[in-house]
Amino acid sequence: MKRVITYGTFDLLHYGHINLLRRAKQYGDYLIVALSTDEFNKEKGKKSYFSYEKRKMLVEAIRYVDLVIPEKNWNQKITDIKEYHIDTFVIGDDWKGKFDYLKDEGINVVYLPRTPEISTSQIKSDLYNK
Ligand code: CTP
Repeated sequence: MKRVITYGTFDLLHYGHINLLRRAKQYGDYLIVALSTDEFNKEKGKKSYFSYEKRKMLVEAIRYVDLVIPEKNWNQKITDIKEYHIDTFVIGDDWKGKFDYLKDEGINVVYLPRTPEISTSQIKSDLYNK
């Protein structure tokens, strides 16, 4: 069984997220989403609209997703890769090159093209300016 992992906040779930998760799942049989916790987002200077528990419930309901785990810091990726026997790390190409160091763990690192013209920040600002 091939295992895939991806990381993110997935706040105000939108079709760009679904596209990313659908394509991520195509790299294997089992997809894990490491979902940023509210505390980790705070560290990054981000505040999600939905709490971790609500975002987790939404992401767990997506048919491509097999498991949701918490993303608590920047440094857990190598531990996760070992613990969950990951074969492929996938993320959107806004992160292109940033996680190439994970290749040293013997896994594939894939940057997928983002879906154009949609993001959580965009939704927030569009609604704010309505
Ligand atoms: N993503 C994507 N296409 C989009 C938006 C997001 O492929 N249009 C991907 C990101 O590249 C990432 C994952 O979805 O791999 C989760 O992204 P996240 O940062 O949670 O969502 P954004 O909508 O980009 O949120 P923000 O505007 O707050 O950065």
